Amino acid sequence: MEGFEKYYQKDHQTRLDILKQKKYLDQTQLDKLQASASEVKISDAMIENFITEYHLPEGLALNYVVDGQEYLIPFVTEEPSVVAAASHGAALVKRAGGFKTTVTERLMIGQIILENVAHPEQVASFLESQAEKLLALANAAHPSIVKRGGGAQALKVRVLAPDLISLDLIVDVKEAMGANMLNTMLEACATYLQTKLGLDVLISILSNYATRCLAKATCALPVELLTRNGLSGAKIAQKIATASRVAQLDPYRATTHNKGIMNGIDAVVLASGNDWRAIEAGAHAYAARDGQYRGLSTWIVKDDILYGELELPLPLGTVGGSIGIVPLVKINQQLLRLKDARQLEAIVAAVGLGQNLAALYALVTDGIQKGHMRLQLKSLALSVGATKAELEPVVSRLEALQARDQATAKKVLEELRNKQSERSRT
Ligand code: MEV
Repeated sequence: MEGFEKYYQKDHQTRLDILKQKKYLDQTQLDKLQASASEVKISDAMIENFITEYHLPEGLALNYVVDGQEYLIPFVTEEPSVVAAASHGAALVKRAGGFKTTVTERLMIGQIILENVAHPEQVASFLESQAEKLLALANAAHPSIVKRGGGAQALKVRVLAPDLISLDLIVDVKEAMGANMLNTMLEACATYLQTKLGLDVLISILSNYATRCLAKATCALPVELLTRNGLSGAKIAQKIATASRVAQLDPYRATTHNKGIMNGIDAVVLASGNDWRAIEAGAHAYAARDGQYRGLSTWIVKDDILYGELELPLPLGTVGGSIGIVPLVKINQQLLRLKDARQLEAIVAAVGLGQNLAALYALVTDGIQKGHMRLQLKSLALSVGATKAELEPVVSRLEALQARDQATAKKVLEELRNKQSERSRT
């Protein structure tokens, strides 16, 4: 596009000036972009064509007792009610002793896809015979991980079609997210397969389906803890279990059920500087692991106890990628009192289950709108320009009117301002 040639080579200020010259933005808007960019050097190094930093709110989810320890959990999210709901779910579980978790070994899987394979079974057994050599090559490509006690551990060969093979490299990445490490190792092996063994490599890349890095959270709530507004805890627990069954049976409901789980998971993953798209992709693939897309969590009632369980792949790191670069990530790690990646996985799994409990609890009792309403009305008031001081009176008036639209919100705000200016005149 004219004026944007070699945009990536321009410095930050010049990139902004071009937006003004080309009449995309005026000076006031440019000032906003400037003001929103507080870490220009870092951000400019992180992505291409950087113009500003897009801020999201960060809040703390409370009441999370995970494996006997209570945490403050930083959530980064744009969605009202997510933090409140997560804290509410966790408060219920806290009264029942908190969440318990288990985390498997932290192994990442990378793939080298071979194409134009003529005799797949023969090639597969040949590759298996090369395992030692390939593992050594992979480890030589990333010696520092071996020093830290990790590295490439195993190879697996899968015939995908008569002409296609996936050679899976399984790597212990220790505290890292591991994407770069895996890709470096895979490419070293791919070069060998191609140049020395004459095999046709199509692609080499980490798999986000991290089935060797699973985290599970469970909880057990005596049903009486769930009693609300004249509905017995036993009845509510039963309804939660039925909602869980529906999410196992119906992909339409399962998708929304899992979206609710990811509300909390993504918020912590983002706050911890991890790649939330990778976690999302892996979670949804895991939800469809038996061929049908299902809810990631399950709830059952037995002997007056509501048992919840959530398991998903959680390849999270505490070092590497943007983790070491973004200053807020370090602060969030400190808020979490984070010691290692396994602990982060455990916390995130618990958050997913707590968030899910709160959503199902609200859905089977009052419905989701009631609890969300005040926060949604707050957003509505903000969207029509209410100041902090005006929020409360505008929200109360909208509640009384039972109105949810911008036109009414604008009118209410105008009325409030008119009243205030009348008062100041008298
Ligand atoms: C909204 O962001 C999330 C819910 O839809 C989740 C659910 O339905 O389970 C409330």
